Amino acid sequence: MRNLVDILDFSTEEIDELVEVALDIIESPEKYADAAKGKILGTLFFEPSTRTRLSFTSAMMSLGGNVLGFDSAQSSSVTKGETLSDTIRMVSGYTDIIAMRHPKEGAPIVASTVSDVPVINAGDGGHYHPTQTLTDLLTIKRRCGRFDNLTIGICGDLKYGRTVHSLISAMTRYTGIKFVLISPDELKLPDYVKADFLDKCGCEYSEVTSLEEAIPSLDILYMTRIQAERFADKNEYERLKNCYELTAAMLGNAKESLCILHPLPRVTEIAVDVDDDPRAAYFEQAEGGRYIRMALILMLLKTKGVNDRRGGDAMPDTSLVCNNPHCISRTERGIKQLYKNGCCIYCDQKAEKV
Ligand code: NCD
Repeated sequence: MRNLVDILDFSTEEIDELVEVALDIIESPEKYADAAKGKILGTLFFEPSTRTRLSFTSAMMSLGGNVLGFDSAQSSSVTKGETLSDTIRMVSGYTDIIAMRHPKEGAPIVASTVSDVPVINAGDGGHYHPTQTLTDLLTIKRRCGRFDNLTIGICGDLKYGRTVHSLISAMTRYTGIKFVLISPDELKLPDYVKADFLDKCGCEYSEVTSLEEAIPSLDILYMTRIQAERFADKNEYERLKNCYELTAAMLGNAKESLCILHPLPRVTEIAVDVDDDPRAAYFEQAEGGRYIRMALILMLLKTKGVNDRRGGDAMPDTSLVCNNPHCISRTERGIKQLYKNGCCIYCDQKAEKV
């Protein structure tokens, strides 16, 4: 049994296959109309969502399956003090596959260790969002025709933007990728993302603050929202919230073939006058989320065998502690604290000495 907790759970060949299936679904949706007949998807959203939850729902319905779930922690037994593990144990008895979003980093790892059905991470705090990356990759394939030899500008909240972390980790496996990381100093990419992906692959990357100066060199511009809900200091959010606004006037020196992406929702970081530019791909990107999630559900429902549960090679270590306040290991009762290469296996952040 397979889970999708982070995008690197899938090989590049599997990602290619998912993209091919999604493209075939777009061509001939009728072929897939009964492909998941009689199956039930659980959508467990402990955090707000529009596109992700609705596109998962639409995907399962388009495959002839059914959907049950909740769209906020308030409407689940979390309010009664139930642990995530207990909730997942129950729901895995009612469903054939689970898509979950949770505010705590590493929550899907906890879920995948107790679930009897595949678990899909639909966003865990400021950590990862692998199905958004699949959506991004489908759009890149349709617009650019390739995953290699691309200069990718990523702009906005690189610190808390989980879609950014997953996209970077996915793209480092292709050749000829250059990243231009555009953010204010306060919202730079976290060290663990740099260490685990950028430094390991030896990818070329630069960290800059000016969006306008970066634009002419880019094949892809990935804009992101400043993640208001993750800031401990609300004054800092107020200061940074309008740090970038892409406008039509700024695209004068951009490549004709530029592909402008955004996981959405947008606030003020892309002016509406960009929407009519043929290079704006973000609404097509959001629509594609339905088709790639159809391909993903089909793949996970088909894959039999042993659960690829996390933590097999991780070790308890009483000399270490995870001090990340957003990590699930800080709040979930009864789970093992596990570390690998000195990092917490749930949130990937460096553990500290007790
Ligand atoms: C993103 C998310 O939830 O991380 N939205 C989405 O799933 N399309 C981006 C965001 O909320 O800014």
